[in-house]
Amino acid sequence: MRVLGVETSCDETGVAVYDSERGLMAHCLHSQSDTHAVYGGVVPELASRDHIRRISPLIQEVLARAGSDRHDLDALAYTRGPGLAGALLVGASVARSMAWALQRPGLGVHHMEAHLLAPMLEEQAPSFPFVALLVSGGHTMLVRVDGVGRYQVLGQSLDDAAGEAFDKTAKLLGLSYPGGPAVASLANTGDPQRFRFPRPMTDRPGLDFSFSGLKTFTANTAQSAGEDEATRADLARGFEEAMVDTLVTKCRRALAETGVSRLVVAGGVGANARLRERLDALDATEVFYPRIDFCTDNGAMIAYAGHARLSAGESGDNDFNVTPRWDLASLTAPAA
Ligand code: KG4
Ligand code: ZN
Repeated sequence: MRVLGVETSCDETGVAVYDSERGLMAHCLHSQSDTHAVYGGVVPELASRDHIRRISPLIQEVLARAGSDRHDLDALAYTRGPGLAGALLVGASVARSMAWALQRPGLGVHHMEAHLLAPMLEEQAPSFPFVALLVSGGHTMLVRVDGVGRYQVLGQSLDDAAGEAFDKTAKLLGLSYPGGPAVASLANTGDPQRFRFPRPMTDRPGLDFSFSGLKTFTANTAQSAGEDEATRADLARGFEEAMVDTLVTKCRRALAETGVSRLVVAGGVGANARLRERLDALDATEVFYPRIDFCTDNGAMIAYAGHARLSAGESGDNDFNVTPRWDLASLTAPAA
């Protein structure tokens, strides 16, 4: 089975071809981060318009790179949600139209399910069950995964997502969007001892997160300590240490509570080097990551997730809808 995957939930246009026998055949990505950088965050209308401009040429390109004709496709998968409604509609319209024209099944995929299955694209793929730490710009979650569609949300952020906290902290420090890589790079030169940021919700039981206090702490500390180059780097480091420490503490707790020894880390913040270093040092735990390119949004994970469901017997649907808000816990195993 050969599946074209289309991702347009936010500010990346991603397309890919995944094949049962040959694995990932090709993927192409256009990032809009330069378009949004001047505004300090994603502007939804600009995102939709750019997806419209990019999507057809990208699909042509990915098919050419895969050496595949569109008639060789057996199914089309696209991100149905969660995400920006206008942006989602672009991928959904294109993938649905192709599915109808080619008379193939089309399937709307859950973006976070695709993130948590992304490590399956690697040679060293995890087997079930595993605990997934999903850390993106819109979500922070710990999920017990017993199979495709068999998800138990163990904990999640009560306010800002981890990526959002990175992005807001970046803004406070005068760094460009997207903030995660910018904060991480400034933090490299910072002193980890100078500022001790709080580790929110680690002093009580439970697996939920809360990150909105971290940006307030950054703002207040910056006000009193000044904003010279060295102080900004120390703040970036202090923030990153607190974020990583908090995520690691909760992962350790989730693994202990579930008795599971495999951990998957996915979503944009999963690209963070300091987080990876600390998780790799966890005792008796095998940690799996997607390759760096597939931590952030991409078409490959959508093609893979669509393929996983369709090849397990799910039939696709004719429903042309997007679901900008969509709870991961509402998903069920593929229905044959
Ligand atoms: O998964 P993703 O590409 O998009 C969403 O679905 O949200 O995640 C984007 C988020 C952004 O908030 C970005 O700042 C963060 O991931 N990010 C990072 C790093 N690379 C991307 N955060 C920390 N360290 C990084 N190296
Ligand atoms: Zn994402």
